[in-house]
Amino acid sequence: MLFRGWGDAVGGRWPDVATVVDHVGVGHLVVTRHALVRQVLADPVTFRPDNALDAVTPLPVAALRVLAGHQFRLPPTLANNGGASHPEIRGIVADALHPTRVAAQRPWLTGLVRERVARLRATLDAGVPVDLYADLAADLPLLVLARLVELPDAPVGAVKEFARAALELFWAPLDEARQRALAAEVGRFHTVLRGFAATGGGLAARLRAAGHSPDVVVGALFFLLVAGQETTSQFLTLLLHRLTGEPTVRAGLRDGSLAVADVVEEGLRLEPPIVTWRRVAAVDATLGGTAVPAGTGVVLWLARAGRDPDVVAAPDEFRPGQRGSRRHLAFGAGAHRCVGAQLARLEAAVVVAEAAPLLDGVRVVRPPWYPDNLTFRMPDAFVVARP
Ligand code: HEM
Repeated sequence: MLFRGWGDAVGGRWPDVATVVDHVGVGHLVVTRHALVRQVLADPVTFRPDNALDAVTPLPVAALRVLAGHQFRLPPTLANNGGASHPEIRGIVADALHPTRVAAQRPWLTGLVRERVARLRATLDAGVPVDLYADLAADLPLLVLARLVELPDAPVGAVKEFARAALELFWAPLDEARQRALAAEVGRFHTVLRGFAATGGGLAARLRAAGHSPDVVVGALFFLLVAGQETTSQFLTLLLHRLTGEPTVRAGLRDGSLAVADVVEEGLRLEPPIVTWRRVAAVDATLGGTAVPAGTGVVLWLARAGRDPDVVAAPDEFRPGQRGSRRHLAFGAGAHRCVGAQLARLEAAVVVAEAAPLLDGVRVVRPPWYPDNLTFRMPDAFVVARP
């Protein structure tokens, strides 16, 4: 389960908490029930977030040297920050992603998606297959994020490559040669970010003005460029793929009997792009009757918590608006709950509203493929055609 925590694995039989040993012999306490996952997320004193960005395959000296050559550092800033600086850093990021600023992006985003969907429709009508990941979902979240936090014009392709390299380096089972190659990619981009953190406007300037060190500014930008765009483009792809197999839901969207927002929420519950998230026990604790010694790495199985029969009426069925649909933990909970949730929801709502009709009558030529990863789904392509 550890590296493929979606699909069939989510539905199998599991105890409430289970120790699973990984590929390097380290044991993780996997938490499978909604109530227990919530309990951990709500208690940052007992279960700290310090390990959120730790490499699940320990980095060998050779890869560490490559990173050190780029002066790579990831101090506690956001997701991995259980310290006193977290609320202020989070507050500055949350201001940049304030619901009012997010809502103001809707007309621009709708225009862009509408234009793309029209082009995709014409291509499909001409009998040519389209890739809904590459041609629709991959870069949208980055384009929106760049407007909200004022990122420089880094080439979209380079940012996507860096972000996917980071997700692989820190969350995938890897051999040493691959770790070195990924460290070089991540390190190179980190150097670019350091330059921007020192001079950039927008969010970078606000963090600097609040007195945060260059390492903290780089750390915040690093995390945002990964979490703030890669997750959402993954989710858009997962949701569109799911909707191709849900004709009743598409019909409900068409005739107005289903709300777009409910479809997005049910999508987050059943197809979360982040399938697990980690915490570490700071003190001896218990969880559902199981002893958890201090220092234990805890893997919160968010994808499974969304299908907990104690919470959802029909856990495995895509039924927008059903009881419990909104109680998923796809965005985490508590002090570190995702600050980009509103933005991700807006992006998904616009894409569902504009692109769901495109899926009527298409044939899936190439479903997304997902590499082994502890946390992220990382679809690589999603090709459809009209028969
Ligand atoms: C569907 C898309 C997304 C999903 C499923 C998602 C999920 C998550 C999860 C599970 C966490 C950890 C929460 C916890 O520890 O309790 C998180 C944290 C975070 N997310 Fe997201 N996220 C998404 C999109 C975004 C976007 C669009 C942004 C910003 C542009 C963003 C920014 C952040 C930040 C800054 C944190 C760290 C918050 C903190 O530690 O205070 N995320 N997200």
